[in-house]
Amino acid sequence: MASTAFELKGKTVFVAGHRGMVGSALMRRLAREEADLLTVSRSEVDLRDQAAVNAWFAAKRPQAVFLAAAKVGGIVANNTLRAEFLYDNLAISSNVIQAAHANGCEKLMFFGSSCIYPRLAPQPLREDSMLTGPLEPTNEPYAIAKIAGIKMAEAYRSQYGADFISVMPTNLYGPGDNYHPEYSHVVAALIRRFHEAKVSGAGNVAVWGTGTPRREFLYVDDLADACIHLMKTYSSPELVNIGTGEDITIAEFALMVAAAVGFRGEISFDTSRPDGTPRKLLDISRLARLGWHAQTALEDGIQLAYRAYLADSKWTALLVPDKWRKQAHPRIRTRVSPSWPRRSRND
Ligand SMILES: NC(=O)c1ccc[n+]([C@@H]2O[C@H](COP(=O)([O-])OP(=O)(O)OC[C@H]3O[C@@H](n4cnc5c(N)ncnc54)[C@H](OP(=O)(O)O)[C@@H]3O)[C@@H](O)[C@H]2O)c1
Repeated sequence: MASTAFELKGKTVFVAGHRGMVGSALMRRLAREEADLLTVSRSEVDLRDQAAVNAWFAAKRPQAVFLAAAKVGGIVANNTLRAEFLYDNLAISSNVIQAAHANGCEKLMFFGSSCIYPRLAPQPLREDSMLTGPLEPTNEPYAIAKIAGIKMAEAYRSQYGADFISVMPTNLYGPGDNYHPEYSHVVAALIRRFHEAKVSGAGNVAVWGTGTPRREFLYVDDLADACIHLMKTYSSPELVNIGTGEDITIAEFALMVAAAVGFRGEISFDTSRPDGTPRKLLDISRLARLGWHAQTALEDGIQLAYRAYLADSKWTALLVPDKWRKQAHPRIRTRVSPSWPRRSRND
């Protein structure tokens, strides 16, 4: 596992997908790196458009790229928009990786996802379990596109010596999440449903599935910190999982979100909805050896995410009484879980 120092300071750094949850967290974190940040909106350059991507890269020639643009969604979106998830993600990865290579990009980070691992791979999921068995059918198109992106980064490295690396984040949550009623991920979906039930006075919230699947959740600002750490220090074809190394059942997690939101009614489980993979916990030993550990305890992260949701009028314009919105930005001290080694945020 090779390590090299890569300086971000003074470099032109392109964050593809800068308005997304991951991209905006990267922008917040990169603000501390004294880099020259480049962004482009989808209306200017649709990253599925090869000619537009080539022209933009030829004009801007970014020295470093975080490829955090993708078509992303929860289990329903993945399972219904199967063609779009495959086409969009293949096109975005191919266009950006090739254009980065052709225009002298010194370093690129590709974002995979834990769904690239086989549905029944041994847990916790090790990086070398990719392509060892069948994928979870509900998100197979997305996973196939992500695996192709990883293989592209790997191939450009082996054929051209390009310093392109790939990371596999676990389930993320935090500011900038998508709270769409059908297409969101589980954390956003639960925050929204418990919040709506609290506001409307509903006595019951139905959580999708049986509540038994186990999931790992990482606060998105922690992810961004891990990515900057790896961008500066890591250079290898081997993937790196990014997670907390701890998982809980959806039922336990739902109780935590309900408590954070202040919902005091009943929680039931809608077993007509799919569960997805029974367990998804990343093996983070490689990341730990590389010197990074998550900082934000889950309870604190959920509080922060709920406050960000309250503050985001895009989702809550009709749902948040004014007095709550005014309280939306209290400072919460981030507590480090005792089981996680302490690490300075400035490492
Ligand atoms: N969210 C998670 O839990 C999670 C977990 C593991 C891995 N990841 C990976 O992390 C990366 C970012 O995810 P995210 O959660 O930040 O997703 P997101 O919030 O949906 O953001 C995706 C970003 O990509 C941009 N985008 C999508 N299609 C585009 C196109 N055709 N042209 C230009 N821009 C386009 C979007 O632009 P607009 O702002 O214009 O829509 C948005 O800024 C993805 O690769 C994802 O696979 C996410």
